[in-house]
Amino acid sequence: MSQVQDKPAQAYGRVFNFSAGPGVMPVPVLEKARDEMLNWHGAGLSVMEMSHRGKSYLSIAEESEAAVRELMGVPANYKVLFLQGGASLQFTILAKNLMGGKPADYVVTGSWGQKAVEAAKLEGEVKVVWDGKPGKFTEAPDLGSVSLTPGSAYTHVTLNETIQGVDYLRDPETGGDLVCDMSSCIASRPFDVSKYALIYAGAQKNLGPSGVCLVLLREDLLERVPAGLPPMLDYRVQVENGWMYNTPPCFSVYMVGLVCRHWIDFGGLEAVAKLNEEKAAIVYGAIDGSGGFYKPHAVQANRSRMNIPFTLPSDDLTEKFLAEAKGHGFLELKGHRSVGGCRASVYNAFPVEGCHALAEFMKGFAASNG
Ligand SMILES: Cc1ncc(COP(=O)(O)O)c(C=O)c1O
Repeated sequence: MSQVQDKPAQAYGRVFNFSAGPGVMPVPVLEKARDEMLNWHGAGLSVMEMSHRGKSYLSIAEESEAAVRELMGVPANYKVLFLQGGASLQFTILAKNLMGGKPADYVVTGSWGQKAVEAAKLEGEVKVVWDGKPGKFTEAPDLGSVSLTPGSAYTHVTLNETIQGVDYLRDPETGGDLVCDMSSCIASRPFDVSKYALIYAGAQKNLGPSGVCLVLLREDLLERVPAGLPPMLDYRVQVENGWMYNTPPCFSVYMVGLVCRHWIDFGGLEAVAKLNEEKAAIVYGAIDGSGGFYKPHAVQANRSRMNIPFTLPSDDLTEKFLAEAKGHGFLELKGHRSVGGCRASVYNAFPVEGCHALAEFMKGFAASNG
């Protein structure tokens, strides 16, 4: 039987997409968007063609915000913003808005934390209070054991490092204002928004398509936004204008609303977490059961359930693995160049069947090549 005939069948001939982002979307959400594409709810036009100031779009915007609030349990004293420029622009915006002339602490557990530091350094004094680089970014520290700077503006963490697959797997606590890049694990499990001063996440992994960054902002932070910031980079301006100071990413925001509603109907974040634990356990099971053929990157206590990087014994075997994986309909398994090897990203919408299929393939490959 050819490898192509072995491919597990999926609706619409879809492949198992292990992309780290933009990542896989829930099929029922894509179907709903398809059904509503040409004539949204009888409005006679698509969401892409509507004025963002019109009644139809304002109802969509309201629903997207309501769905985010409901799914994530966002307290009333937090603003929900849908901004552009991705998580990368938030690296700059949050520092501009929140540093207020004070140093800011950064805990660096991987490549995205490093990028956040580089951007913030252009805005003020950055203290890297913990750096995982010497240990090759394999773990996340207990913040209770990290010595933070007295009087700092905030502490920044990257909750899940997408490239290294390192996740705190809990809400970290500092006693001060915690600012969190949650791009690659948001809504993958329950989390307590009130433990964070600010949360931001590029949508294109667990929330929807690219083009929108979700920001959850505790409203008292607005008091420290300095005067004179460029309007698009000013949280106060964005809040005062209901994130519509300019034309927002209308379609992406609509999709985020559909995705959040989908997971609410699924049973909420407890149910999502259970599914994600099950899926990750299947892939880690194949790694751990391989007698050392596959090696995981992160330490056990910080193993991401979203991004699972692993290496093989040699570059040649990695190339062979990736080529054969492609033949099985597995997409985007190549690891990031800084870590090497492979990476399986299994976001919320990634099907459990895909994890089983990958684990079976990994077992077979190790048996034939080990
Ligand atoms: C943890 C994390 N932070 C930030 C980013 C950058 O996001 P964006 O491309 O939306 O700027 C990514 C993208 O993969 C990420 O995984």
